[in-house]
Amino acid sequence: MSDAVTEENWMSKVLSSPVMKTMAENLNASAIETDPKSTPLFNAIIRYLGSEGTVIDIGAGVGRFAIPLAQEGMNVTAVEPSEEMRRHLLGSMEQNGISSRINVIPSPWPLDEDLHADVAFSSFVIQFSPDPVKFIRAMEKSANKRCILAIHVDQPLGFLKDVWKVFHPSETAPAMLTFSELYPTLLNMGIIADATIIEEQFNPQRMMKPDRMISMLVDLLNIKDSPQDVSKLKEILVKHQQEASQKRLFRTAIISWQPGR
Ligand SMILES: C[S@@+](CC[C@H](N)C(=O)[O-])C[C@H]1O[C@@H](n2cnc3c(N)ncnc32)[C@H](O)[C@@H]1O
Repeated sequence: MSDAVTEENWMSKVLSSPVMKTMAENLNASAIETDPKSTPLFNAIIRYLGSEGTVIDIGAGVGRFAIPLAQEGMNVTAVEPSEEMRRHLLGSMEQNGISSRINVIPSPWPLDEDLHADVAFSSFVIQFSPDPVKFIRAMEKSANKRCILAIHVDQPLGFLKDVWKVFHPSETAPAMLTFSELYPTLLNMGIIADATIIEEQFNPQRMMKPDRMISMLVDLLNIKDSPQDVSKLKEILVKHQQEASQKRLFRTAIISWQPGR
């Protein structure tokens, strides 16, 4: 059996609990740095909701958007499969006294049950889905007024390309779904969506800690049984560290459409 990286196994490694821990820390830090209520995504959601509107937050994470939406009086369904993320989410719900406004569903999207709300949105989640078309179809079925997706424009795993070549020269490095593939997918589904591109400054302080980065990459590259390869990887990472920690811009697309048109 080859140790080639398949879509499924690298995805499960990216979504492993150590990575989720880093992701949760980063999302909490981001919610403190930037008030989610001031973000273009929050505003894109809220404009389709009246008072006490209903909204499904698909892959709610630590509740960066679910919490402020509930604070604004919305009734939120937060779909979140990761136990690590839910721990943070449930903690914030209690801390903010809004537990009655958020219904947490501990499952991946799409759900087996039928769910309906004014708005269904998903922020930086669809790139983890094994079937984006099914993911989008289920959003369309659930939303009465608007479907909204936030997705990376620039490849978040772009840095893997060079590392991959060294250890697996005959394989293509894993890549995440980004705007340039997602928009044509929507068009092929007959969905002509509005898209806004926003630019944000990458915060190098929110980079993954070096030891966590190394263990994630060792796992992804499947090199843990080769101490030689592990030290080679460390050398490469030290060389790239300065470049990776430079301030730079990253772009996000906010894609929004009326379901069933
Ligand atoms: C980068 S985080 C984004 C969290 C949140 N939406 C935000 O923007 O703050 C990705 C989240 O998607 C969740 N996730 C991954 N696959 C999912 C799926 N199929 N359905 C729902 N959530 C999923 C992960 O557990 C994680 O919480």
